[in-house]
Amino acid sequence: MEVVVKKDYDEISKLAAKMIADVIKSKTKPVLGFPTGSTPIGTYKELIRLHKEEGLDWSKVSTFNLDEYVGLEPKHDQSCYYFMWENLFKHINIRKESIHAPNGVAKDIVAFCKWYEDEIIKTGGIDVQLLGIGGNGHIAFNEPGSSLGSRTRIKTLAKETIKDNARFFKTSDEVPKYAITMGIGTIIEARELILLANKETKADAISKAIEGPITAMVPATVVQMHPRTTIIVDKPAASKLTREYIAEPRVLKTTKTN
Ligand code: F6R
Repeated sequence: MEVVVKKDYDEISKLAAKMIADVIKSKTKPVLGFPTGSTPIGTYKELIRLHKEEGLDWSKVSTFNLDEYVGLEPKHDQSCYYFMWENLFKHINIRKESIHAPNGVAKDIVAFCKWYEDEIIKTGGIDVQLLGIGGNGHIAFNEPGSSLGSRTRIKTLAKETIKDNARFFKTSDEVPKYAITMGIGTIIEARELILLANKETKADAISKAIEGPITAMVPATVVQMHPRTTIIVDKPAASKLTREYIAEPRVLKTTKTN
């Protein structure tokens, strides 16, 4: 596990985008896992810039999103799908059929979740999974208490998460109470994880995720078990860490595979 502490949001975003771009360039059929939320927006902006200004090619890339609110159509302006379309996909040359996201209006959610898991495997497995972290330590919508071996499924959102999300909806009644989320067991099967956090509001969760004991009560602690995890945080998010961490990740030489 590498913990990289950067000065600010701009620097964490650029580093995460560079690491993702390196994976895209090094694979013939790259498979990427993406979160929504405010944290990855800077990374997506930089990935768009790399496409427009430096020709980063997305034509062979497949993506899987971590989660979606139950009851929201992809075209709903608060759905995770809409977020990804607006903040990344519509700006790059990805094939629409290579974009995968949980279907919040699936009639049979259990069957859909099984299909989603199978689809990840059929596509070759996720090469790099980008993650944000909730203030309560959640990853994707695996709230505290989620099994560390969980698979893609429907989850009830924690009260804190519903409260955090209320700012995006007109009334608190409109905030979805359930989500379909990749499980923690699904997430850690990705070949590489990048966990990103900024702002002091994430300092507690980051200190527990990095320096605390592994526990289902802080789902993000599971990244400690992954052999290839990079946690990239800005100084405010790192403010409660007690040990010294590095400012640059190890340079990993990549060769074209798959
Ligand atoms: C959403 C997701 C969530 C967010 C987390 C942080 O796809 O995976 O776990 O990463 O709730 O959200 P922000 O970035 O808005 O602070």
